[in-house]
Amino acid sequence: MKDKNVYLNGEYLPLSEAKISVLDRGFLFGDGIYEVIPAYSGTLFCLEAHLQRLNNSLKGIRLELFLSTQQWLDILQPLLIEGDAQYIYLQITRGVADKRDHAFPAQCEPTIFAMCSAIVPFEGEQGVKAITLDDVRWELCNIKATTLLGNLLLRQQAVEKQCAEAILIKDGYATEGAASNVFVVIEGVLLTPPKSRDILAGITRDVIIELAKANGLTVSESSIAIEELQNADEIWLSSSTREILPVISLDNQPVGDGQVGPVWKMMQQLFQDYKRAVS
Ligand code: PDD
Repeated sequence: MKDKNVYLNGEYLPLSEAKISVLDRGFLFGDGIYEVIPAYSGTLFCLEAHLQRLNNSLKGIRLELFLSTQQWLDILQPLLIEGDAQYIYLQITRGVADKRDHAFPAQCEPTIFAMCSAIVPFEGEQGVKAITLDDVRWELCNIKATTLLGNLLLRQQAVEKQCAEAILIKDGYATEGAASNVFVVIEGVLLTPPKSRDILAGITRDVIIELAKANGLTVSESSIAIEELQNADEIWLSSSTREILPVISLDNQPVGDGQVGPVWKMMQQLFQDYKRAVS
């Protein structure tokens, strides 16, 4: 299996042999959805929650495909490689149509692709820099769509300003990062924007909320005005591949005292312990 390291439509293949048609609607239109599922010590992390979100995304793009948890496990487990931390990238498109047409084809077999990569530990312990940018994306950010141009253009602007992430602002309120969810700590209370079509409901976000509540932190899922973001004691970003990143500079201004905050340190410990406990 070692050299057959990707899954494509029922087969395990070497990456170099995995090919899709140029008429695949994922290629032509970005007509597909995806998941990023971390795995620690060979155990897929929060698999049920990721599959639930996968099913929500499929429903969101009206793509009929249902596999049980066991069927997904049978597909994904063989892809896991050696090493402590990895992630599965899973993409499903509407498949190959016989001609290019925006409307859905009458019949189409979905394309299912999955591969596994190592999670490269992000050098974030010292904190990262972020910028704020207008959230110029579409209105269905709850769908984990492969159509990511909006996110890419935003992230690239952040990178060009030597920042790790762009925090997106819509109508004066923070929504999320270009590829992460956002949290702030204000006077000991942890706030994060509520689930809506403005954000992707992050699985890491859910774990953080659960751990915070279980450990006596007050959590509020409520809107964060840009002024609250700018004056927050702490800002964090969360995602499956970057876990929880403390932001120490926003738009070139220090966040809080410009150091990694105490609430992040506590949450980081809780998160690492939780990962170990479930893997
Ligand atoms: N992205 N919001 C957006 C826009 C994201 O792209 C992501 C993750 C998240 C966090 O979701 P989760 O905690 O479930 O990873 C929020 C993945 C990692 C990616 O696109 O590679």
